[in-house]
Amino acid sequence: MQHPAAKVLVELADLQDREVGDGTTSVVILASELLKHGNELVKNKVHPTSVIQGFRLAMRQACKYISEEMAITTESLGKEALMNAARTSMSSKIIGSQAEFFSEMVVDAMNEVKIVNKKGTAKYPLKSVGIVKGNGMSSSDSYLVAGLAVKIGRATPMMVRQVTGGCRVACLDFDLKKFKGQMGVDIVVKNPAELEAIRQQEEIITKRRIQMIIDAGANVVLTTKGMDDLAMKYFVEAGIIGVRRVPKIDIQRIAKATGATLCVSLGTLEGEEAFEPGWLGAADTVGEEMLGDYEMMLFKGCKTSKAVTIVLRGPNEYMLDEMERSVHDALCVVKRTLESGMVVPGGGCVETALSIYLENFATTLGTREQLAIAEFAEALLVIPRVLSTNAACDATELVARLRAYHYRYQSDPANSDAALSRTGLDLSNGKLRDNVEHGVLEPMLIKLKSISFATEAAISVLRIDDMIKITPPQQQGQGGGMPPGMMGM
Ligand SMILES: Nc1ncnc2c1ncn2[C@@H]1O[C@H](COP(=O)(O)OP(=O)(O)OP(=O)(O)O)[C@@H](O)[C@H]1O
Ligand SMILES: [Mg+2]
Repeated sequence: MQHPAAKVLVELADLQDREVGDGTTSVVILASELLKHGNELVKNKVHPTSVIQGFRLAMRQACKYISEEMAITTESLGKEALMNAARTSMSSKIIGSQAEFFSEMVVDAMNEVKIVNKKGTAKYPLKSVGIVKGNGMSSSDSYLVAGLAVKIGRATPMMVRQVTGGCRVACLDFDLKKFKGQMGVDIVVKNPAELEAIRQQEEIITKRRIQMIIDAGANVVLTTKGMDDLAMKYFVEAGIIGVRRVPKIDIQRIAKATGATLCVSLGTLEGEEAFEPGWLGAADTVGEEMLGDYEMMLFKGCKTSKAVTIVLRGPNEYMLDEMERSVHDALCVVKRTLESGMVVPGGGCVETALSIYLENFATTLGTREQLAIAEFAEALLVIPRVLSTNAACDATELVARLRAYHYRYQSDPANSDAALSRTGLDLSNGKLRDNVEHGVLEPMLIKLKSISFATEAAISVLRIDDMIKITPPQQQGQGGGMPPGMMGM
């Protein structure tokens, strides 16, 4: 990506993905349409400042209108609302044909990881839902398991496969190997028997360290570093699961979920060595299980945070990656719906209603912003237009009818049917319908964010007066990377 304005759009999509997780395509389409309309105004000698102020005002009015007039509480719609929101986000994706199956899985997963914080508000941490991809079988063979799954295995098959009934998990960040003297320390021995004594001492030190961890009550020991045969032997004898070379990121996740402290060394402030039982994390069961095609370590019933794992199956890598993205979008949608409890009808309904509302609003204003607000209203229509074009419908006709419905409602809200205000596109039949009744719902937050982010991005580009582009100096001759000034030196 070279062009600075394009970079702004890329960052915009990224922002939307990070903040709310879905609606990345919509936000980019809306921002570019706003830019197009803003640019027209500037070309027609409207000062950019007026355009920017108009866009800002329109954005604020739009967000107010959505939250005051269009939002519907999920309680009034029942449990189906969640499923519907998840299904809507999947409908344009690769798993769209199995939206029923996946939306149930996603809603179950999100409900499973609910935590209530100290203030009493419910949170649904996205990080607690792991996604594991397994090549092979079809997408309908995907399933949900309780517990945190990590792609690690026991250090040796001699160890027990599973520890049940209250696991104590030690997370270490040092080697469990035969103790070696520090670098730069020389020991001069004259008698070969002394050499043997040194070796023995090394073994004793290692044994003492391992015994310390075992005595603290650990029955699952994970380390990011190595584990030698000697250490494994002690773990096997004690019936402990030992895992070596656990990736740092995984051990951090495990530590967080089980409430363990990642331990960098056994050294204490007094210069002794100790392992505190308080450093251990807790889980109900830990063991290796076959998930997809891999043997995975599954931590069930973790102490501090509940975790679930979605195992996705699919014929190839590309499909799996796309499925993962779609499931991630749906998870975000469910999270936002659960947390805010508000949804709006999808399928271009909100955008059309806003367009009519802003057009009316613009005519009530006698200031310089009027033109910009009217253009903002026009730009919003790009969403229903793109949606109907993508569904191979007649965009001009559908959007015109959609506008007529919303206009009729808004000109006399008290006496008209509320269903008119919820009219959106029915893309499979190329018609219009009440989208709330047919379950095409989107979280309100996603709509609010995408409108405000798109406006901000368009404004930041409109602020730029001129772009001066310096072409990089041409490289001359075969001289490779030598700058021009250096030639002939
Ligand atoms: N069954 C449906 N009927 C009508 N419109 C629908 C339906 N399902 C989804 N939509 C509309 O499709 C749009 C979402 O499309 P899509 O999920 O492809 O893009 P996005 O959410 O903007 O971006 P992304 O999902 O790529 O992050 C929303 O405006 C939504 O209202
Ligand atoms: Mg989407």
